[in-house]
Amino acid sequence: MTVTSTIDPAFSVGPVNPWLFGTFVEHLGRCVYTGIYEPTHPSADEDGFRGDVAALVRELGATVVRYPGGNFVSNYRWEDGVGLRESRPRVLDLAWRSVETNQVGTDDFLAWCARVGLEPMLAVNLGNRGLAEAVDYLEYVNGNPGTRYADQRVSNGHAKPWGVRLWCLGNEMDGPWQIGHKTPVEYARLAQEVAHAFKAFDPDLQLVACGSSNTTMPTFGEWERIVLEHCFDDVDLISAHVYYEPVGGDEVSFVAASAHMDRYIRDVVATADHVAAKRHSSKRINISFDEWNIWFAARHAENRHAENKVEHTEASEAPALIQDVYTALDAVVVGSLLITLLRHTDRVGVACQAQLVNAIAPILTIPGGAAWRQTIFHPFALTAKYARGTVLTLAGDHGQVDTPAYGPVEQVWAVATHDAQSGELTVFAANRSLTDPASWTVRLGSFGELRLVEHLVIGDEDHNAVNSEDVPDRVVPLAGVSTLADDHVTVTLPPASWHCIRLA
Ligand code: AHR
Repeated sequence: MTVTSTIDPAFSVGPVNPWLFGTFVEHLGRCVYTGIYEPTHPSADEDGFRGDVAALVRELGATVVRYPGGNFVSNYRWEDGVGLRESRPRVLDLAWRSVETNQVGTDDFLAWCARVGLEPMLAVNLGNRGLAEAVDYLEYVNGNPGTRYADQRVSNGHAKPWGVRLWCLGNEMDGPWQIGHKTPVEYARLAQEVAHAFKAFDPDLQLVACGSSNTTMPTFGEWERIVLEHCFDDVDLISAHVYYEPVGGDEVSFVAASAHMDRYIRDVVATADHVAAKRHSSKRINISFDEWNIWFAARHAENRHAENKVEHTEASEAPALIQDVYTALDAVVVGSLLITLLRHTDRVGVACQAQLVNAIAPILTIPGGAAWRQTIFHPFALTAKYARGTVLTLAGDHGQVDTPAYGPVEQVWAVATHDAQSGELTVFAANRSLTDPASWTVRLGSFGELRLVEHLVIGDEDHNAVNSEDVPDRVVPLAGVSTLADDHVTVTLPPASWHCIRLA
């Protein structure tokens, strides 16, 4: 297959939104305990957080981090996680049927974010708690000294308000598995009350209302409409969540999951803009795509929350839950999902890959031992590092793959970013065919003289190749095949491959 596209500085979508490179830390399995936090680990810092993991998080280039859940938040008492560690209670987490020791809580986590350089996005419990507790929590985190909860934070050793700007109003409240699951109107009323109070506290907060848990929910579309009709004036973003896997072994559609994410974003934007139109409003509600990734839910049926049936009966501390090991093919899918997010930089306000360590994560650890990069670490790190300046679309013919789940989709899925100051032009592209290579010619519009700096490719003839503790660098970015001549670059895209082509 030979395909030809054109890039030009005029094909601008908008500035690269750095918050597209968010991540997520939930009190789930070994994400927190023996993931980011393990006081007995040889690399632990003075507060008990693993230094080896912190170094990998910095290398990943994540910008924002959502915390503490997820399903976990809907049964969470923030008060249990603050103050002296030895006085904190051990409690039963109903979302993942685990024992929560509360050794990591809000202050510990926010201090870690500051050390690692992450912008925190906190979620409040609107499952088994409500308006009063959410407002108390906001005061604890952001209040100036001199009032009750802010002073509690001060006496816990944190004089300065944390200044958290991003807040999620609950989590997946449409899901029957959620503790405190609600109808759209029940949730919309509560979210509006909380949003109104939060904005009264600080009008500059960025508030995220819960959208649907995924597009297969029976209320998808209707949920977003009802929630936004209630909350439109008080919230800034509506959430979207999605996890992909080869359903019934359908890898052809799995590689094209980015086509589904693209449509999902368009559908939620259309719904939000419909509500705006009805109100004659020029305000635009953007998307917080605050959970996305690959999750082999079928392989982990015993942990699947969707049926609210967690079958490990004995609740324990930090059980090894949903520790998916990702392949070379999965890395190509993750890379192409990042391309979709960049293509919607104008309407996706935040995006968080779920999650950061051990549970469906780009980083795996051994308790007391090593930490390493999964295959999916690499496309994330390269995109976060090199997507700079303005996002540009590409015009032209991108071939076609016929997928059972999504119909015909473009074979070459691409986006570019151009930094007018440094002159760097970076093209991100995925070949979404499992079987067919592509020879791709990209005509470079009016960028002036360019040279090829680097072409990195992720993919492997063995689609199932993985990184492991013993062979942590089995799948890494390798040099790709491309040539620059006059006004075009020609790139070879092997089947199921992801590319980062840097020109300057
Ligand atoms: O990320 C794992 C879980 O997936 C989250 O807790 C929940 O919000 C989603 O269903």
